[in-house]
Amino acid sequence: MAQAKKTLLSGVKPTGRPHIGNYFGAMKQFVDLLNTGEYDCYFMIADYHALNFIQNGQTMRDNIIDLAIDYMAIGLDPKKCVLFKQSDVSAHTELCWIFDTITTMPYLMRAHAYKDAEAKDKEISVGTFNYPMLMAADILLYGADVVPVGSDQKQHVEYARDTAQKFNNAFGETFKLPKDLIIESVKTVPGIDGRKMSKSYGNTISLFATDAEIQKAVMSIVTDSGAPGPDGKAGVPVNVRAIHELICSKDYLDNLCAENAGKYKALKDALAKDLQDFIRPMRERREKLAQNRNKVIKVLEKGAKQAKKRADAALALAKKNIGVSL
Ligand code: ADP
Ligand code: TRP
Repeated sequence: MAQAKKTLLSGVKPTGRPHIGNYFGAMKQFVDLLNTGEYDCYFMIADYHALNFIQNGQTMRDNIIDLAIDYMAIGLDPKKCVLFKQSDVSAHTELCWIFDTITTMPYLMRAHAYKDAEAKDKEISVGTFNYPMLMAADILLYGADVVPVGSDQKQHVEYARDTAQKFNNAFGETFKLPKDLIIESVKTVPGIDGRKMSKSYGNTISLFATDAEIQKAVMSIVTDSGAPGPDGKAGVPVNVRAIHELICSKDYLDNLCAENAGKYKALKDALAKDLQDFIRPMRERREKLAQNRNKVIKVLEKGAKQAKKRADAALALAKKNIGVSL
């Protein structure tokens, strides 16, 4: 008999235009893993997580639609996977509450994301504090075996795993223990200023940027830390090469860099051209999809139905095991 497929779930917050750091750090894996055909895939728009950051109805609506289009434009075909938004499946927030009752405050205080948020602003929301428990619910409701994420989300997947274990110990076998899936080679994509590429630093190259936007962003990549070239003198700018490596082979780049050591303008021009060629087909697909908003809404409605079916069954078992279903 054919073995049942493993389940894969991941999510992205609808907090604005994705950049190539989001793509290479997390989203590209979604497409690659979907296309292996080895998994039942669920891709979520984490709108209730985003509510901690986006508190404007129109912006939220626009961001949700945009992210659904982004998902499809990078190659997540809604015929082959379930695309849905978190807020459509109320089991997520209900299970989050149940997890809150078996979770302690000191445990949540150890989360890196909480510590970072607190270091920036003491007045953080309860939702930010509780973020890992909603994410645990997202993952455990689908019995996800694997959760592909960027490396900064590794700890959150560990929280989900711990929480499943804690729940199972207290109430009997209920949830499967998930594992993260991280591409080690693409740890952190640098931004145009050399720091981690991040929306909050304003140092991004948008995943669906126009040719002109790409040209402009690439020209402004900081180049002061060039590594020595083959002659030991003129260099190859580290950040330019790091971004170029995301889309081109090592051999091609070794040649390019050897021929153009010290010629920063030429190396940047080559990167801009290669990035434009890489991004163009995705951007064009996105432009087409964006013309039919109703179709996007239909995709999410269908996804919600499919997701709800699976999540509600898992929640029913949890409610039975904690003893609230009579
Ligand atoms: P941002 O920092 O731009 O707000 P998010 O925190 O929304 O990005 O990240 C969404 C996903 O993209 C996460 O899984 C994260 O690990 C990944 N990611 C974000 N920035 C990068 C980066 N510069 N390099 C690699 N992965 C990244
Ligand atoms: N926390 C993730 C991020 O910021 C988004 C997310 C929410 C998620 N729920 C999830 C990722 C469940 C994987 C699985 O990128």
